Amino acid sequence: MRVVSNLNELEALRSEWGNATVALVPTMGALHEGHGALCQLAKKSAQRVIVSIFVNPLQFGPNEDLERYPRPREEDLQRCQDWGMDAVFYPSVDVLYPTGMENSIKVLPPESLSNRLCGASRPGHFAGVATVVLKLFIALRPDYAVFGEKDAQQLFIIRHMVKDLLLPVALLAHPTVREIDGLALSSRNRYLQTPQERETALTLFRILTDAQTQMHESISPLPAAATLKAIAETRLAEAASSSPVAIQLQYLEAVEKETFQPAKTLHPGVKILIAAMVGSVRLIDNLDL
Ligand code: PAF
Repeated sequence: MRVVSNLNELEALRSEWGNATVALVPTMGALHEGHGALCQLAKKSAQRVIVSIFVNPLQFGPNEDLERYPRPREEDLQRCQDWGMDAVFYPSVDVLYPTGMENSIKVLPPESLSNRLCGASRPGHFAGVATVVLKLFIALRPDYAVFGEKDAQQLFIIRHMVKDLLLPVALLAHPTVREIDGLALSSRNRYLQTPQERETALTLFRILTDAQTQMHESISPLPAAATLKAIAETRLAEAASSSPVAIQLQYLEAVEKETFQPAKTLHPGVKILIAAMVGSVRLIDNLDL
């Protein structure tokens, strides 16, 4: 497996690969089996696979976890090797932001997509994501790029960017990979240190599956906002009474999958999205009804 860290090495690798089809798996490292599933999808789809590992400063807010975000380089490279990856692109900040972070040209997704849900509590986050993903597409020129459905809003915005900017890359999405009890795999799960924190983190999945069950059991359409509010109240009260770990809901919303605009009722074709602080750890999840 090749590990390249600058654009010259990347160019050399691209010309060695000739006309082979290339799939990119963009990541911020701290790799887990969820990334492993993206890598396997990439392997099935293209002749060469490259994983990028870059903790992108532009997508972190001033009070977020940029400094403490895990960067287990050797462990990550070993995983990529074990997953049969052809190469890893491991750039430093100045390689992807050669004119400096302050002077960087940014991709601004439409506010109607980027200021809601995760964007409401993370201003600038999706501009940071779109900017770095576009840079990776330009630098690596992949035929395919693979993203996880756990970051549903991110995926929607990247699809929008690819369409709007006429980018010659096919996006592939992989369903969220979960632990046996339903906890969505995430690099931030490693911050959940105690069994109580992990148990409290399951509240997100329980809220989502409650919504799914209630929709299936109801004979008439359920109003989205009121139903989700009632489910959240019940589950959050239950979590508060059984665990000392605080959980604070940031959003719980139903959107139409095709447009990402708020859904009025719970029906098939709706996606429920949730974000919450579990202790000091911010977790997100979503489920299609
Ligand atoms: O989902 C992630 O890991 C990141 O947001 C991405 C797409 C690699 C951009 O930094």
